[in-house]
Amino acid sequence: MSNRGTLILLVICGFFFTDSVGFGADLGVLDIIKLTKFVVEGIGKAWNIVDQRVDFSSIPIPILDKTEAKLFGKLDVITLKIDELAVNIEGAGTNTIAMVLHNLPDRVRLELRLNDLLKYMTQTDVNFRSFQRYTVHHNDFERLTLEDFARVVVGHDSNSVVNLIERIHTFVAPTGRGIADTGVLELLLKDLTEVEGDMLCNSKQSPQQVLYNLYNAIALTELKGYSMIQFSYMLLRLYNKGNFTTESQIMRQRFEERTNSAMEIVKKSMADASRQYWNCDPKRHIKGETYEEITQLLQGYVQNEVDLNPEGTCRENCAEYAYTKSHGCFGNQYCRQQRRCNGKILDCRYFDSDMWICPADPLSGRRYEYIEYENGRVLGRKQSCQHGTNKVDSWWRWLFWHCSYCFCLCDEQSSNSDRYVNMRPAISNLSSNMVVTGLRFVKKNRIIHIQIQEGKLLPRGNIDASTVRWVPVEDYKITDRKIYNGQDYHTFSWEKRAVDLDDLEADEGHVLTGVRFKEIGSHLNFEIFVTKFDFDSGKLINPTSTSVWKDNSNTDSSTTNPRKKVWLVTPDIPTRTTSPSIPTSKSDEYIELVNSDIDRDAAQTTVPFLDAQKLESLQPVPLSGAGIFHKGRKYFGGFITLKVMTYDYSRHIRAALSDEEVETN
Ligand SMILES: *[C@@H]1O[C@H](CO)[C@@H](O)[C@H](O)[C@H]1NC(C)=O
Ligand SMILES: *[C@@H]1O[C@H](CO)[C@@H](O)[C@H](O)[C@H]1NC(C)=O
Repeated sequence: MSNRGTLILLVICGFFFTDSVGFGADLGVLDIIKLTKFVVEGIGKAWNIVDQRVDFSSIPIPILDKTEAKLFGKLDVITLKIDELAVNIEGAGTNTIAMVLHNLPDRVRLELRLNDLLKYMTQTDVNFRSFQRYTVHHNDFERLTLEDFARVVVGHDSNSVVNLIERIHTFVAPTGRGIADTGVLELLLKDLTEVEGDMLCNSKQSPQQVLYNLYNAIALTELKGYSMIQFSYMLLRLYNKGNFTTESQIMRQRFEERTNSAMEIVKKSMADASRQYWNCDPKRHIKGETYEEITQLLQGYVQNEVDLNPEGTCRENCAEYAYTKSHGCFGNQYCRQQRRCNGKILDCRYFDSDMWICPADPLSGRRYEYIEYENGRVLGRKQSCQHGTNKVDSWWRWLFWHCSYCFCLCDEQSSNSDRYVNMRPAISNLSSNMVVTGLRFVKKNRIIHIQIQEGKLLPRGNIDASTVRWVPVEDYKITDRKIYNGQDYHTFSWEKRAVDLDDLEADEGHVLTGVRFKEIGSHLNFEIFVTKFDFDSGKLINPTSTSVWKDNSNTDSSTTNPRKKVWLVTPDIPTRTTSPSIPTSKSDEYIELVNSDIDRDAAQTTVPFLDAQKLESLQPVPLSGAGIFHKGRKYFGGFITLKVMTYDYSRHIRAALSDEEVETN
């Protein structure tokens, strides 16, 4: 017993030291390719054990035992590596298939036959587990049991592993040429492009990642199958059931063909797949958690004409007051009962002479719940009024002049109005080789920030998951000393309330390492910071000198292709819609913050809101870009939100098993 233990240990150690492929703990994307080479080489070496020209029927049992143990040692090493990678791949792969099954329409689901694929993959996996159990505990089992199992694995039965992996492969690369014979990856790519919205944003990964995760799961299953088949032949030869050299060679050839053709297909599908992803709406909207608001930028405000001009006259009509301020509070009128607007008063209009006003709880940020005019028009949603309504009546002055109550917009920069956006850069820790892996909007000290998630970049596009963290945003207040408007932060106002919407992408060979806002004229403009890196080593290259800011400085007054405005049509409060948001803007556009609709919300809310959900990947990956866009529904204010572009792995996929690279024997 102890002899055998030592032998296995030696075999394992030897294997590690002579292992020419060699990979560390940083398993992840692209490593299925390395693993495949590793397994093929390992199996090649394992054949040597049973390939000596010995007649195993005539050798004494202890030697047979030793040879068997050696073989199982090799197998152990291989299954160990497969299991190591499986932790990552199966999680992501299963999640991906589950996501696809849940989110795709029935038509597509049937077309993809994913249930069948999943069934075959599960069957292969169950076989692999049994195989592992038999070999790990081979002392507890009779040789006959192992032999039987090996026979089943390589048998002609339709459920044999040989047949299972051929069947799985036809999902990736169908043998026919007809339209119905399109591979699952290509079909999925088509569907991911067609099915907008929910499907993509629920997946927490870009379509390119979806394809790759699915492919990885399939490739891993094939690898398990291939290992089982080869070891089964070895066992059968060891137990003197035949030579199996030819069978094994055919299997190896088929495996290489399958792997290489699948690799070509996945490479092509991935090159065509989008690398963007963004968040759907949450199940429930929670202020401060899933969304943030700019507050009281432009807010519906009732004031009498008499207070809107310095002379205190009522000679004009409301529409004359397009840009004014509150000049006083005449008499003991309604102006005594409400908080005065100490800023600009804009865009006044007249609806009716007399009204009931339902005041809102001051903590809600609203002035009014609703306003009901005597002529029946209601601004906002009429519901029970907790603190009772106020009757507000216009009056006549000397029979000539009507002192009307006007409905205006108030733009007041006060402690009630959170209207600031951080303009300081948020950059990952470059000296620790950190890159940006996620983004979100947060509000801190009344200032909106983009918070970054960072993680340490590793070789071949991996991220060290243990280092991933949300970097705390800067902790300053606009009232702090040496903090300047237009430099540290941007202040929205009626004149300055446009946000540029752009997708920004790094040049090849660069990764996202930061974001910030700057001002271009009256617009707030988004920028990304990108740094050059080496894919194979995973090292940022001289980050202080190779990093650059990228933006889209196009404006709405450019002569060619000017930036276009995204219009919100009578927008209601964004969280009131039950329909999921869909993207409504493209790159090279902008949106203005605006008051909610007068009729639907008495213009009490500033829209759009900002999406505060964490935008992070199912598995952290480096990013090659980021974007800011608007999502929503018609007649609702929607959300300004962020998207990211995942790093393009497709160009790093090469055929796994070219002849020069893999030496067996
Ligand atoms: C198995 O067959 C191959 C080719 O047919 C032959 O070269 C080899 O010697 C055989 N091995 C054994 C152990 O019989
Ligand atoms: C960045 O990483 C370095 C090295 O690990 C560390 O000393 C430094 O404190 C980090 N900087 C920040 C801002 O976290």
